Amino acid sequence: MTDSIRVTGGAPLTGEIRVRGAKNFVSKAMVAALLGSTPSTLRNVPDIRDVGVVSALLRLHGADVNYDVESGELTIDPTALTKADAANIAEHAGSSRIPILLCGPLLHRLGEAVIPDLGGCRIGDRPIDFHLEILQRFGAVVTEHPDGLHLSAPNGLRGIKYRLSYPSVGATEQLLLTAVMAEGITRLDNAAVEPEIKDLIDTLQKMGAIISVDTDRSVTIEGVGRMHGYDHTALTDRIEVGSWASAALATGGDIMVLGAQQRHMGMFLNVFRKVGGEFDVVPEGIRFYHPGGELHSIALQTDVHPGFMTDWQQPLVVALTQAKGLSIVHETVYEKRFGFTDALVAMGAHVQLFRECLGDKECRFGQLNFKHSAVISGPTPLTATEITVPDLRGGFSHLIAALAATGTSTVHGIGIIDRGYEDFRGKLAALGATVE
Ligand code: EPU
Repeated sequence: MTDSIRVTGGAPLTGEIRVRGAKNFVSKAMVAALLGSTPSTLRNVPDIRDVGVVSALLRLHGADVNYDVESGELTIDPTALTKADAANIAEHAGSSRIPILLCGPLLHRLGEAVIPDLGGCRIGDRPIDFHLEILQRFGAVVTEHPDGLHLSAPNGLRGIKYRLSYPSVGATEQLLLTAVMAEGITRLDNAAVEPEIKDLIDTLQKMGAIISVDTDRSVTIEGVGRMHGYDHTALTDRIEVGSWASAALATGGDIMVLGAQQRHMGMFLNVFRKVGGEFDVVPEGIRFYHPGGELHSIALQTDVHPGFMTDWQQPLVVALTQAKGLSIVHETVYEKRFGFTDALVAMGAHVQLFRECLGDKECRFGQLNFKHSAVISGPTPLTATEITVPDLRGGFSHLIAALAATGTSTVHGIGIIDRGYEDFRGKLAALGATVE
């Protein structure tokens, strides 16, 4: 399949599409299945590249993984787990950061694990210091080898008391996946509480875990000696839903997103409405549309849940180029998540980046010289150009910009988008987009 597409924009996206399970939950639930002594079934699984990558990694460790694209049903039998070679893990992991999350379950099941060099989207340094500190506190011994980090647990893993300095999603998942079978009680303070994490907690509870979540971002886990398989239906991908909603707004369109769940979209829906978009929540999903007239500028800060997600930011910024006045967006989760705006500027948008925190939220990047605030002045017509996508969300945002622009744009490197957007080519066609 070619890695470039030509997009002829300027027409509203209209029609109906379906969004299935959340990429950022499904991959973790697949890892959780390794903790079970019996097979697991995960439902509503999307056909995205990240699912293929995690499946390959699990198979490499001896798990039997079967996926039916049509029904979205994925089964994992982890009964015959074996050790994998670091070079093979690195080859299968590609740019995925999943190998780090395999550590807890593999240490419980096999007594050892390996972390090769990790990739992921190029959106800042994305360190793994929290992960390593957590694993070591549980009792893992980490040694550096030429092929990566090797972990072992010579004395088993024991519950810990831990406070995250920042409510990291991955580090919270790391702790959960390790604590559920560690000996004794683990207490985590300042945990991430994203809906995907709550779904992971529900999944682990189905497997036999004992986990309680308090209202103050603290989580308590009582380790159990044995876990079994689960049968779980993944929550809908709220990032993908927000992306299509922004596409509707940017192109003056009307998109019915089947499967969208209001309870996971609250903050997005508030902002969508403030910008001037309209939506109808119906039992089958949410219809997002541009009601005509002017869009309004806004001031916005990304944040951990229950704030406005960083992953909603880029698609929405494209829509904000079409809003009247000055919009201000302060990115507080990643230090370098505005790289994609270069392409918008090349298409005619007025976007200026600032090192200062343009918002009242205390942010880790204010003194660190990162351009992490954006001022967008609109509305500006967008014109077609040639673009190379930088990362998953930035890439989808470029697609939206190309669809909103007049003329034919060439977008290179779209393979990245397959990591997290199921059949986006088919969905674009269903929405009437002119794409080759
Ligand atoms: N961080 C550290 N040290 C660590 C881990 C994280 O400093 O050991 C920092 C990161 O550098 C970042 C912040 O903490 O500045 C937040 O990172 P977090 O750990 O919360 O993110 P993640 O688990 O690596 C997941 C999603 C991201 C999503 C973030 C925030 C997955 C596979 N990825 O990443 O999704 O943006 O949470 O919600 O679940 C995407 O889907 O495009 C994507 C990037």
